[in-house]
Amino acid sequence: MQYRVFVSRRLPQEALDIISAVAEIDLWEGDAPPPRDVIAEKIAAADGMLCLLTDRIDGPLMDGASRLKVVSQMAVGYDNIDVPACTQRGVKVGNTPGVLTETTADLAFALILATARRVVQADNELRGGEWKTWSPLQWTGTDVHGATLGIVGLGRIGYEVARRARGFDMKVLYCNRSAHEGAENDFGAVKVSMEELLAQSDFVSLHCPLTTETRHLFGTEQFKQMKPSAILINTARGPIVNQIELAQALQDGVIAAAGIDVFEAEPVPLNDPLLQVPADRIVVLPHIGSASVKTRTRMAVLAAGNLVAGIQGLPLPHPVN
Ligand code: GLV
Repeated sequence: MQYRVFVSRRLPQEALDIISAVAEIDLWEGDAPPPRDVIAEKIAAADGMLCLLTDRIDGPLMDGASRLKVVSQMAVGYDNIDVPACTQRGVKVGNTPGVLTETTADLAFALILATARRVVQADNELRGGEWKTWSPLQWTGTDVHGATLGIVGLGRIGYEVARRARGFDMKVLYCNRSAHEGAENDFGAVKVSMEELLAQSDFVSLHCPLTTETRHLFGTEQFKQMKPSAILINTARGPIVNQIELAQALQDGVIAAAGIDVFEAEPVPLNDPLLQVPADRIVVLPHIGSASVKTRTRMAVLAAGNLVAGIQGLPLPHPVN
């Protein structure tokens, strides 16, 4: 075959079929990400690469990859890829926007409900034999309906979280560079300053990309500006939150709880301070925002489409650069 591609993890067959129709696939069969030197060696002989958010793609890695025409990421976020370095080398970058929007918004809402109503804690304590009787006070949480939700970053996913919030009669505040007329008209969302959002929200849900501006956007100072009863939800990227300071804020009761799907280092080390926070104050998930069978298949198919377009020198259906 004329083209050869490196695919850094096993994918749904539908996606592999799209790729193998035009290219020979060099597939990494490991469950763990391929080591950096392996990626470098593989892409040195490849026209394209399909990667995941666990693969760091930067200039030095691509230095020996003279054939490489495209890096296709199976995710919407692409902070693991040095896009300017790709552009400089004439390497196209693609991602998978749109298809995971609703699935990720569902998970953000699952974390809102789970943290507010102590779902995971109550399940664990029932299994631990702590359900002795129906009790007026045990496992009481906070209402989601009618509460105020602050959305930081009102893009596609933030909009879908706001749409779900409307069904719960929530008041929606948001911080975003530009106003989102759709969310304002459709759900009465109100654009406010970060200070106002922090001061007024019962739930603060993060939906911005990880950039130099958003790295550690949330830390002690922001937690102190939140209500002591507030709950922080992060389904975006771990480094948007200073994780050590979040652990401290939860331990000290500066905020009430957190629902966290993404971490500064993934997988989160089991001795991380965040995992020492008592389970009544935090629900932790292993970065499963987009993890429905249907959505992961659609993401892989989209990434395969970007890959095969890129190796053939065609415009990517979902370009980043
Ligand atoms: C997942 O986190 C994604 O960016 O698609």
